Amino acid sequence: MTTTHDSPTAAGSGSSATEAFRASQHGAAAADPARVSAIVSKLLAGIHDVVRDENVSYSEFAAAKQWLIEVGDGGEWPLFLDVFVEHSVEEVAARTQDGTKGSILGPYYLPDQVRLETPATLPQRPDEKGIPLVFTGQVRDTAGAPVAHAELDIWQADEQGYYSGFAPHLPDGNLRGVVVTDAEGRFEIRTIQPAPYQIPTDGPTGKLITAAGWHPWRPAHLHLLVSGSGHRTITTQLYFQGGEWLDSDVAEATKPELVLAPTDQGDGTTTVEYDFVLEPA
Ligand code: DHB
Ligand code: FE
Repeated sequence: MTTTHDSPTAAGSGSSATEAFRASQHGAAAADPARVSAIVSKLLAGIHDVVRDENVSYSEFAAAKQWLIEVGDGGEWPLFLDVFVEHSVEEVAARTQDGTKGSILGPYYLPDQVRLETPATLPQRPDEKGIPLVFTGQVRDTAGAPVAHAELDIWQADEQGYYSGFAPHLPDGNLRGVVVTDAEGRFEIRTIQPAPYQIPTDGPTGKLITAAGWHPWRPAHLHLLVSGSGHRTITTQLYFQGGEWLDSDVAEATKPELVLAPTDQGDGTTTVEYDFVLEPA
C-alpha cells in the first residue's frame, strides 16, 4: 500500500496516549494499604503461578524484563493496558450500571472538543474518505423520559483507522465533537463510517502480538461518552453489523447490544438510529 503521509508510529501514538492520560483527571484511587496489599499480592501470586506452571526460564524472564522496559520507553502502557486489561475493569463497573451497555474508554479520548448543537456534522477534512453515515437517536432516562440537552462526546477513527491527536497527518479535532441534543434528547450526527483499528505493529505491544501469533485488530467502532445533568455518564462504543473482527476483537470490548445495522440509502450513504438510556446519578 502506498501512503501519501507519514504513517503514525507506535512510539508516536504511544507517547501521545501517555501524555493524554497524564493530562486527564483520571482520579487514581487513594492508596488504602489493605487494598494495595490484597490486589498486588494476588497479582504477584498469579505471576508466580505462571512461572511455576510454565517452567519459565531465566532467558524468558530476561525477555519479559526487556519487553516491559520497551513498553515504558515507547509510552505504550495506555495502549497495552486498554487493549488487554480494560475490558475486565469495565465488566466490574457494569455490575452496577443500568441503561445502555458500556464499553472501554481506550487510550484515544481527548477532552474539550468542539461543541455542536444538533443537527451536527463532525469536524472533517474537505475530502474526508469513508461511507457517509447519518446517526440519529434519542437520549432517555431509565423511566423512559427524554433527557433534555444531553451531550454525546464522540470520537472515532477515520477511513484508514487513525485517530486525530495520535496520528501526525490528521488535523486536530478531526472526527471529534461534543454534540448537544435538543430539548427532547434527540440528536442527528453526520459523520463517516470508521475503519477497523489496528494496534501499531512496530512497537513492543505489536511485537508481542506477532510473537504470540495473535492478530492486532479491533472492529470498526464509534466511541461515545453520553451524559445528561443528574444522570450517570455512560462510556461506550458502537460497532457495525457484519464488520470484520467483530467476533475476535483484540480488546474483547464488543457486546451484542452495541452493534449498529446501518441502512444503505442507495446513493452510497447510510443512516442508522440508536437510542441511549441513562440512569440517575
Ligand atoms: C486501543 C485503541 C482503541 O481505538 C480502542 O478503542 C481501544 C484500545 C489501544 O490501542 O489500546
Ligand atoms: Fe478506539
